[in-house]
Amino acid sequence: MHIVSVGVSKFCFLFSLGFCGLLLLLIPSFQPPARQVHLPQPRTQVRLAQKGQSHLARVPVVSGHVRETVSVTRINRSSAVQTELTRNDNHSPNPVTTAKGETVGGLPESKTLDVLELKDIFIAVKTTKKYRKSRLELLIQTWISQAKEHTYIFTDGEDKELQMKTRVNIINTNCSAAHTRQALCCKMSVEYDKFIESQKKWFCHVDDDNYVILPSLLQLLSSYHHSQDVYLGRPSLDHPIEAAEMVKSDGSVSVNFWFATGGAGFCISRGLALKMSPWASLGNFISTAEKIRLPDDCTIGYIIEALLEVTLTHTHLFHSHLENLRKLPTDTVLQQVTLSYGGFENTKNVVSIIGGFSLAEDPSRFKTVHCLLYVETDWCPKLKPRHRA
Ligand SMILES: *[C@@H]1O[C@H](CO)[C@@H](O)[C@H](O)[C@H]1NC(C)=O
Ligand SMILES: *[C@@H]1O[C@H](CO)[C@@H](O)[C@H](O)[C@H]1NC(C)=O
Repeated sequence: MHIVSVGVSKFCFLFSLGFCGLLLLLIPSFQPPARQVHLPQPRTQVRLAQKGQSHLARVPVVSGHVRETVSVTRINRSSAVQTELTRNDNHSPNPVTTAKGETVGGLPESKTLDVLELKDIFIAVKTTKKYRKSRLELLIQTWISQAKEHTYIFTDGEDKELQMKTRVNIINTNCSAAHTRQALCCKMSVEYDKFIESQKKWFCHVDDDNYVILPSLLQLLSSYHHSQDVYLGRPSLDHPIEAAEMVKSDGSVSVNFWFATGGAGFCISRGLALKMSPWASLGNFISTAEKIRLPDDCTIGYIIEALLEVTLTHTHLFHSHLENLRKLPTDTVLQQVTLSYGGFENTKNVVSIIGGFSLAEDPSRFKTVHCLLYVETDWCPKLKPRHRA
């Protein structure tokens, strides 16, 4: 009995000693957690994560804690990259195609840190000599003036005079000036070959009634990497197009695919453009289009979606004259990538934007948009519209 009670009180003593010790050990974990855990902004976290070591060194040296902080920083760094990619218009990052042809989501982090510049983009403008005065000169006066070296105008006649006067790149495709499928595909074929030759990272095609908002274009393309398979544009229909498969089979099978409407403009990464080569380079584009008997922009969609099995990334930042442009909210106009005007029998189909020019002075609204983007331009009204010289 006596021996047993001594044993019990000894046990109690040792137990309470152990309990106190445990309490002492636990004190650090009742302290407020390290600061990193509460970092609010994803963008800040990216910067902190890049600076890395010095910041982490300030964390109290409680081993379990440091490990936890590091992993939290990693998680939030990737979610920050994700946010960066999906920020604009909900484009999800296009899956990366691996060497095996499998698709995996996301991007290698280092690649997203590349800074894309205007010189990395090849902007092709498709026009015809008939529209030199009415359409092309307006583009040269406005957005092309900000990207002269990177814009290539594909037309169907010589125009040495305009080239000398404005120092823009004008390429005579020697294609027919007719607005036929063959003539349009002929121009697209030359555009493709010139892009491949240029070594630039992105191929963007627009029409001669498009205004390209260069800062938005840069921002959009910066969300992707040019070595990924990226095909960006506005689907012209709300369903995929169906066509007989004439390239891989004899036409007895049909294929469904989406395509980006050429009239709103579209962009293709260099990685994807190179894969298109068997069906697009050196005149092959014309024969591909002939086989499926579809227009140039459909043929691009066919090669990419049906033959290469890469999906179109749908974006509503590109606009053609086929839409009701007046519906575009005024406060979002300058965030779009391309704009347009007019359309069949509808000269009043323009974006609603207010600036230095009246509708009579600037029927397309392109000058107004340009002056809101580049206030310092010499021909832009400096004072209130009514008082300018
Ligand atoms: C990390 O980011 C995720 C997603 O943005 C967020 O839900 C979570 O609270 C963040 N964690 C910390 C510890 O900040
Ligand atoms: C068009 O023809 C001219 C004269 O033959 C030639 O110099 C030029 O390279 C041709 N253009 C293209 C894009 O092939």
